[in-house]
Amino acid sequence: MSRDDDYVLGRELMDSVRLDAQHLLWKLHTSYELHPAISVTDDMKIADLGTGTGNVSLCLLDCLLEPPISIHGQYDVVHLRMWASNIRENDTAALMRHVQKLLKPGGYIQWEDADLIHQTVQGSRAQEFEEHTREIFQQAGLDYSWVANLPHRLQKHHFHMVALHRDPFEGPLAQLCTRTYLAALMEILRGIKRTTRSEQLVHSVNEQMVALGRLSAAYVREGIVYNWLPVALVAWRET
Ligand SMILES: C[S@@+](CC[C@H](N)C(=O)[O-])C[C@H]1O[C@@H](n2cnc3c(N)ncnc32)[C@H](O)[C@@H]1O
Repeated sequence: MSRDDDYVLGRELMDSVRLDAQHLLWKLHTSYELHPAISVTDDMKIADLGTGTGNVSLCLLDCLLEPPISIHGQYDVVHLRMWASNIRENDTAALMRHVQKLLKPGGYIQWEDADLIHQTVQGSRAQEFEEHTREIFQQAGLDYSWVANLPHRLQKHHFHMVALHRDPFEGPLAQLCTRTYLAALMEILRGIKRTTRSEQLVHSVNEQMVALGRLSAAYVREGIVYNWLPVALVAWRET
């Protein structure tokens, strides 16, 4: 993938460790890698878009650009996970069109993502932090509202919903989500600083990074929960 310029998360060592922890979080939460509604066959082909630290990569693609014709209609399943920060201006249309092109007729899309609008936030320090973070995201043009709207958007692209789960993390997973999310937020704040031209925004981000440092130091002592809502779905492509 070549869009390093506006990718707001990090790609350094600790950022990869965070992705690995997040992979574990998803696995423990959903308890599947391939959704049980999708039948496994010997020769099935799965494309994983935006693989991150995944150890299987078919080829390097910018999924927001038209996929090469040679891979059109080739896949039984297209999998996407944690695209929340990859989408700009709330526009998922190109990505959905490209997924459609990669899939065989009747093929499945399996998508897991983070809804950063319907969060679970507990603790007054965390709630105050969330409010300022929303303001910063807005100023930076980061709009995460499309995730909640994902099923509807897929339906508009002629996908038929097979399964939809929107269950908050519970028990120890709530703490694992908080830890990975606080780490991700530091990456996002650094990413905003890296990509913005607004001095005022840099100033707000610097203040928010200090607040995040305090929140991270206090999260165990104060029993803070700071979680996004996991959204997991499967849909199939109309023939
Ligand atoms: C938050 S990571 C998620 C990684 C992985 N799917 C997971 O859940 O562990 C987002 C990934 O998408 C990749 N990415 C961002 N924009 C992309 C694009 N336009 N096309 C393909 N990959 C993209 C990033 O390089 C990064 O590896």
